[in-house]
Amino acid sequence: MRTLRVTVVAAALAATTTLLGTGLTTGSGGAAQAAAPGPCAAWMDPSDAPSERADALVAAMDQDQKLHMLTFGDPPYFTYYGTAGHVLGQPELCIPDLVLSDAGSGVAGLQISTTTFPSGVAQAATWDPDLQRRLGRTIGAEAYSKGINVMLAPGMNIARTPFNGRNFEYFGEDPFLASRTAVSVIRGIQDNPVIADAKHFAVNNQETDRMTVDARVDERTMREIYLPAFEASVKEAKVGSVMCAYNKVNGPYACENSALLTGLLRDDWGFDGFVVSDFGAVHSTAPSAMAGLDLEMHAFAFGIPGAGIVGSGARFFGADQLRAALSRDDLTQARLDDMVRNIVRSMFRLGLFEHPVQPGLLPFLSDVSTPAHRATAREAAAAATVLLKNRDRLLPLAGGKRPGAGRTIAVIGFAANPVGAGQSTSGGGSSHGSGLPPTVVSPLEGITRQALAHGDRVVYVEGSSGLDARLAATAADVAIVVATDGSTEGTDRPDLGLRPGACVAVFCASLPIEQERMIRETVAANPRSVVVLDVGGPVRMPWLQRAGAVLVPWYGGVEHGNALADVLYGDSEPGGRLPQTFPVDEEQVPFARSAYPGTKGVATYSERQLVGYRWYDAKRERPLFPFGYGLSYTTFDYRDLRVRTDARGALVTFRVRNTGSREGSDVPQVYVTSPTSVGAPPKQLKGFAKVTLQPGESELVRVRLDPRAFSHWSTGRDRWVIDPGRYGVLVGSSARDLRLRAQLSTAGGVVGR
Ligand code: BGC
Repeated sequence: MRTLRVTVVAAALAATTTLLGTGLTTGSGGAAQAAAPGPCAAWMDPSDAPSERADALVAAMDQDQKLHMLTFGDPPYFTYYGTAGHVLGQPELCIPDLVLSDAGSGVAGLQISTTTFPSGVAQAATWDPDLQRRLGRTIGAEAYSKGINVMLAPGMNIARTPFNGRNFEYFGEDPFLASRTAVSVIRGIQDNPVIADAKHFAVNNQETDRMTVDARVDERTMREIYLPAFEASVKEAKVGSVMCAYNKVNGPYACENSALLTGLLRDDWGFDGFVVSDFGAVHSTAPSAMAGLDLEMHAFAFGIPGAGIVGSGARFFGADQLRAALSRDDLTQARLDDMVRNIVRSMFRLGLFEHPVQPGLLPFLSDVSTPAHRATAREAAAAATVLLKNRDRLLPLAGGKRPGAGRTIAVIGFAANPVGAGQSTSGGGSSHGSGLPPTVVSPLEGITRQALAHGDRVVYVEGSSGLDARLAATAADVAIVVATDGSTEGTDRPDLGLRPGACVAVFCASLPIEQERMIRETVAANPRSVVVLDVGGPVRMPWLQRAGAVLVPWYGGVEHGNALADVLYGDSEPGGRLPQTFPVDEEQVPFARSAYPGTKGVATYSERQLVGYRWYDAKRERPLFPFGYGLSYTTFDYRDLRVRTDARGALVTFRVRNTGSREGSDVPQVYVTSPTSVGAPPKQLKGFAKVTLQPGESELVRVRLDPRAFSHWSTGRDRWVIDPGRYGVLVGSSARDLRLRAQLSTAGGVVGR
């Protein structure tokens, strides 16, 4: 315990020093306060266990002090230095302020001068745990410098349908990839004295009727598809908080669902942090508190009920309401004490008492977006970019035998210019980068810079008339056409079309700009056309045949244009692989209305575990681009698969060789098939690696599969179990390019909960 403590504090100090080194304002003086003897001495020794410190503090608190800890402060939502909300500290108890902010692509909301990083789906698309951790760490450091110590991120709901407006915030369609990404990002955020938040717990997979829909899903599907990322966040990353969702889950609202908040989180997974509600997601006082909700976040706008920006605007965890529930014995004192204990235990464990934040005008105004942070954003954006097509090696535009001098590059599209790119860079809703400085580097700016450096020249047209796109593309050596889809919180996508959005802070609307015609005209006019899809999820591509190259940078964040230009010109490689299947069109993903978006307030998850590639496999459907897919500027070969079983599961080894002429990275993926008795989807991702190799170089890749990789949830036995039989291990470069196969047998067994 002591070692862990030292590590956390050391990381926190490092973050503080770096930031102070750039002249920024950070919380400081906490260490001095921590060491001081006095009224707080019983809980201010950092070498004591967080739970002991929490017990000591709660024992010293009177009822008003406890109630204060559970009551979201005024002014709420955005009006407190642009943050999402706060609980004021209690200096007499040495309790620091608790200040919360959105979200997954960086410190957002109404914050200024923070770095907007690539969106959640882009983070997953990197398949790179080290990079994800660095990105999380940078987000946490910026939060801390801004006086924020709870980041309401990451979101990790599974992309059940490609239509969910919020898929761009999440980590794709596969529970294993989502788990790995969540663990890395959370560890990164919590390398600082900042609590991360796993959201939205749980089964929050659509924006249509998001406040009311009842997601009806069987236990096995929940355990195997919708919960693993949360489970890993709790068990592995030790996330400090979990946000319960707006929707209902099998009857009760998620925020008063004791099966979820107590049964799963606490009893099965051993969660020791606090549960915070989504904003306005609470519908009761005692039932929610007794079910396991610890802290209510509400959008009580300026004292006007119903004027909440999100949710109902009502409030249920006010001091008076909690007191009344206690006096009626609907809420027990023991549970109320636990609620406080859960909050302060996380605060102790993540070092918040030793490093209190100091929210205020100065941190609010300070510029925390350092060149180093922007370099991480740029690196991540390139690493997330997926190359879907590259006819005749049209890309990269420079490098090798291509000096590239003197070409005319047509840049086409609203989403390529500074105004358009600013809208789509981080999607819409609560995670949207505020749009306030620093502004997004647009594709036009990024490409112009690279083009100049290579002796090329750029012409720009907006493209929506179609004719201007055609003329510009015809006259150019290479045409780069950029389109976006405007995914946003609050609404689902009506189809897989391209509709640009316009956002002001968290409010987004769609713009009537025609983009499909623009792309069609461009690719028809010039075979050397690169289509760039600045999107939050799959889109249909009726023009694909004629396109020369297709890149998906997702929502790339503030360095979007620079990263894109790096990839186009070959300074970076397109490092991403799809975290989500791209269907041919809407017809290929039919949902009965009862399944999505639901009828009579109920969405029945009748497809069970057949989500994403699991569904395409089971139905033998050929998607446009499969899960895990992405080209490189070089090529790779896999061989020598060996699988050795041992008490810890199985060790999978194979050799990956770079068979091309450029350095590049690859993401070999390990899928497992189960005996038919298991009733599992045809295959499931259970491991992967990211390898970077020089031309001709090879590496022996080792992927460890733990017993969970071979187990399924047995509802009857209420356990993870391994059925006896033969399991397949498949290694490939996507869910549809499986190159190596092996089998192993197991006698079966029980894995646990
Ligand atoms: C979103 C949450 C977010 C909260 C605060 C809600 O609408 O669902 O993800 O953290 O707003 O902005």
